[in-house]
Amino acid sequence: MRIILLGAPGTGKGTQGKLISEKYNIPQICTGDMLRENIYLKNEIGNIIKNTIKKGKLVSDTIVCDLIKIRIKKKDCKNGFLLDGFPRSIEQAYYLSKNKIIIDYVLDFIMPNKAILERISGRRTHLQSGRIYHIKFNPPKIHNKDDLTGDTLIVREDDKKEILEKRLREYEKITHPLKKYYLNQASQRKLQFFTINAMDSLLNIKNKIENFLKK
Ligand code: AP5
Repeated sequence: MRIILLGAPGTGKGTQGKLISEKYNIPQICTGDMLRENIYLKNEIGNIIKNTIKKGKLVSDTIVCDLIKIRIKKKDCKNGFLLDGFPRSIEQAYYLSKNKIIIDYVLDFIMPNKAILERISGRRTHLQSGRIYHIKFNPPKIHNKDDLTGDTLIVREDDKKEILEKRLREYEKITHPLKKYYLNQASQRKLQFFTINAMDSLLNIKNKIENFLKK
């Protein structure tokens, strides 16, 4: 089972991605988390990535495709994987097709930008693991602490309003056209494409995705 999650920042891809990954026993490959791991290492490439993300821009296709190339060769991807945040440009989508990486499902998360801005303001993240919480909709058991490690949760630097607005513009310009590309692939029966109403509750979305993935 090979799945792509499409959708603007903050639409819930990471949250649902984790549930899908657990249910179907496939790894959740989140390029955002992989890039943040590199920032954490404080190496040369990490600095380039940090400067790009903090401007709300997309990291270069070369850097991201190289990370994906290494990751999907790992043993745990043998029975499939879930791509959360990749591809994000048409060049990245071509990278998959050129390398004959067949995709079975594309799930497109949709909600209005105004609601995204509200939702992101409540997001809290466990930096080391990428675990995601929301102060209202998905709170940790103990206020501002990660459920598993007890570490303090953070607000991602790129979740600040002005950076998030830039990320949303970048999404409209570069990532959104991918939808057309994958709808076209679906019309040729190369994969299945489903739209997710990301305004729905966590549980409803989870159940709907499970129904889609049975098809
Ligand atoms: P990345 O980390 O991938 O961020 P993103 O795609 O912008 O998505 P987010 O993580 O912000 O949101 P999400 O959709 O996962 O929502 P979440 O589940 O957290 O990328 C960061 C940066 O890295 C990019 O800007 C770019 O610079 C770079 N990058 C990454 N991939 C790249 C690529 N392929 N190419 C180039 N550059 C790349 O949910 C949001 C909040 O809402 C949470 O608090 C959650 O608890 C809550 N929530 C979720 N679902 C619901 C619900 N149904 N109801 C109520 N609350 C909900």
